[in-house]
Amino acid sequence: MPKVAVTRPLPEAGLVALREAFEVEIYDPVEQGEADEDRLIELARDAEALIPTVADPITEKVLATSSHLRIVAQFGVGTDNIDLEAARQHDIIVTNTPDVLTDATADFAFALLLSVGRHLPQAQEVVRTGRFVRWETQMLLGVELRGKTLGIVGFGRIGRAMARRALGFGMNVIYHNRHRANPTHERTLGARYVSFEGLLAESDVISLHCALNEDSRHLFDAAAFEQMKPSALLINTARGPVVDENALVEALAQNQIAGAGLDVFEQEPKVHPGLLKQSRVVVAPHLGSATTEARTAMARMASEAVLAAFDEVPKIPYRVA
Ligand code: 8YV
Repeated sequence: MPKVAVTRPLPEAGLVALREAFEVEIYDPVEQGEADEDRLIELARDAEALIPTVADPITEKVLATSSHLRIVAQFGVGTDNIDLEAARQHDIIVTNTPDVLTDATADFAFALLLSVGRHLPQAQEVVRTGRFVRWETQMLLGVELRGKTLGIVGFGRIGRAMARRALGFGMNVIYHNRHRANPTHERTLGARYVSFEGLLAESDVISLHCALNEDSRHLFDAAAFEQMKPSALLINTARGPVVDENALVEALAQNQIAGAGLDVFEQEPKVHPGLLKQSRVVVAPHLGSATTEARTAMARMASEAVLAAFDEVPKIPYRVA
């Protein structure tokens, strides 16, 4: 049986079909140590298919290691951890898992927004530490979303799902994207296209939903924070390096923005200590797609792509390279 190497345990319900046709080797970072480049090379050495995650650097060296590696089926929608150019050169198919994590991720972005806007971590702390001694009129006052402007950076599937949620909360939606969305999307979501500078200046909340690439790396730097409203909140469920964390820490310290909800970080799993000290920052360990439904569907899609690559179907589903 050909071997599929999986870089960490995935929901078994999504792997059933794969196990029928392949020998599935699952790497366990808890027991075997983080899957760094050397360990990934070792894992991929005799594999014909590899299922990695956002946390695994699939470099040219990893891709070149196995002469029979046919497909890298990413468990996730972002593929910035994979050297796509090297994959093309080595004739290796790359696929991802779009759509099935869209709602989970937009839900989580909204959860972060409500959590920062209504001081949920502090509220919990008050109760758990026995400091809820009386009802108070001025305790932990937050912001109301109705009538506020949400600026969405990256108007793909997840960005648009965020817009749908914002509409339900009575927010105005503006967006910036490399390409303007089609008029139907703009109309049904009531979303207005603006320049990046316009988005910085107008938004009460900015939520990031763009891919990480050379254009988006450190898009949110000191100059960007200077242009934001002092009352603005920044939500990031996209990729950590879209934000310059040093500049964000400084912007929060200088009250250039009011708070941030962060699910992703520049050097995961490390988090800038300055962010952890800030009470106006809510942090999560990259949980955007972390629902049972999404993660099971992601495993199923990655399996389907591997099976399709071996059946040599003319059109591999979810192919990105
Ligand atoms: C996933 C993500 O949890 O899909 C993505 O790109 O960032 C997350 O939602 C992660 O990719 C799992 O590999």
